[in-house]
Amino acid sequence: MKIIVVKNYEEMSNRAAEIFAETINAKPDAVLGLATGETPLGMYNNLAKKYEYGEIDFSRIRTVNLDEYYPIDPENNQSYRYFMNRNFFSKLNINLKNTFVPDGSTKKPDAFCLEYESIIDSFGGIDIQILGIGRNGHIGFNEPSAEGLHALTHVTELTPSTIEANSRFFASPDLMPKHAITMGIKSVFKAKKIIILASGVTKADAIREMLRGKISAMCPASVLSLHQDVTLICDKDAYSKI
Ligand code: PGA
Repeated sequence: MKIIVVKNYEEMSNRAAEIFAETINAKPDAVLGLATGETPLGMYNNLAKKYEYGEIDFSRIRTVNLDEYYPIDPENNQSYRYFMNRNFFSKLNINLKNTFVPDGSTKKPDAFCLEYESIIDSFGGIDIQILGIGRNGHIGFNEPSAEGLHALTHVTELTPSTIEANSRFFASPDLMPKHAITMGIKSVFKAKKIIILASGVTKADAIREMLRGKISAMCPASVLSLHQDVTLICDKDAYSKI
């Protein structure tokens, strides 16, 4: 794993955006694997600026997102589809038809998961995948030991800690979905290049576990060290326990 330690969130976001821009410029129809959460927002803003300045073109870019609550209406302002449209896609010349987020409103979630995986395969796989890391080492909604390390896209039950952490964003905790559709660790592993971002002291334990702990389903991110092209971009605070 290549490790880049930077000063702060801003620098982390700049470095990640540069790497994404290089991929997009080298391959105008690249497949980008995207994530939600606070961590990649700075990178998305940087990429949107690069688009504004005419440095990159998204007209042929395709995207696939890691995860989505289930069930949830894509129009719900807490859905990850809404998040992506508002924070990234609406700022670019991307064709929304080329953007894929798991469908939180599907009536056949298991069949949908198979279809999602085959959409990714039909694109020839993900060229570059951005990831955040959970405080407990989770990737997407792959929680410690929930599904092991061999899962493809699947429906997963959210852990009580995730429900507690995220329910504050919903008008009432009862409205928080109790399941999600997530790409599995095996799906993520198929990406040609992976960038993991981590910022802040709250991620320091997870970074230590990922880099120094055993490869284990108890820290889903730990398996990424076996991938042939992974770069961790992390600020000093997130790296402070190494
Ligand atoms: P965050 O979430 O970017 O909001 O910290 C990351 C994660 O939990 O995967």
